[in-house]
Amino acid sequence: MSLLQVEDLTKSFAGLTAVDSVDVTVADREFLGIIGPNGAGKTTLFSLLAGQLPPTRGRVVFDGRDITGWSPAKVADAGLVRTFQLMRPFESMSVLDNVAIAAHHRHRSRKAARRHALEVIDRVQLDRYVHSPSGSLPTAGLKRLELARALALEPRLLLLDEVLAGLVPAERAPIIELLREIHADGVTVMFVEHIMAAVMALSERLLVMAEGRELALGDPQQVIADPRVIEAYLGEDYA
Ligand SMILES: Nc1ncnc2c1ncn2[C@@H]1O[C@H](COP(=O)(O)OP(=O)(O)OP(=O)(O)O)[C@@H](O)[C@H]1O
Ligand SMILES: [Mg+2]
Repeated sequence: MSLLQVEDLTKSFAGLTAVDSVDVTVADREFLGIIGPNGAGKTTLFSLLAGQLPPTRGRVVFDGRDITGWSPAKVADAGLVRTFQLMRPFESMSVLDNVAIAAHHRHRSRKAARRHALEVIDRVQLDRYVHSPSGSLPTAGLKRLELARALALEPRLLLLDEVLAGLVPAERAPIIELLREIHADGVTVMFVEHIMAAVMALSERLLVMAEGRELALGDPQQVIADPRVIEAYLGEDYA
């Protein structure tokens, strides 16, 4: 069963087509990796799916409903949630309050929202920072906070935009494990990442984007052996 169908999705900015006629279907509970050079349109694709940008053309069907043109809040309520490559927590607010704001979308009462926020904070292992201002978190903590804010919205489809960027390998490993658990719990994931070891460890299928288009899509091992993918992104050294 497919959870997401993207048809002819296109976004043009003055003179530049950042996402160019993308067609992709994501199965329920799938883990789809997405790679491609800087400027390939990966983040723009996420912004189109999550409602931050209106498409120039095309359609997004999520869980059987046409969500094209919906607001980000309405898309999130429907269960499609993204993280941001450039994180923007409320820095003076505590970790708990940042996550509780997100949890409020699912829980009307302040008490229930805080209780749920605390569970999610535990889950991402930020418990020792619960009352710290978000602005005081180290990079790895900010990444965990970004994940927590997304999880507090109880997504069915989670779009992850470079959640490992800026981390050293020792910080990446526990987050990769956390992503594995989130997926095992039944969340469908689209995972934009440049760290190839993580992409290969987690992805069930791999989409390669270049210049706004799908360059390759399929079994990760086959995709990374594709000469066009090596030329456009991976380079001969990786091969
Ligand atoms: N709001 C905007 N206005 C104009 N051009 C934009 C806008 N957002 C993105 N672009 C352009 O669209 C193209 C795709 O950008 P995008 O951020 O989606 O790439 P990306 O694949 O996420 O790259 P990276 O790996 O560096 O994060 C780039 O050329 C970028 O400069
Ligand atoms: Mg990007």
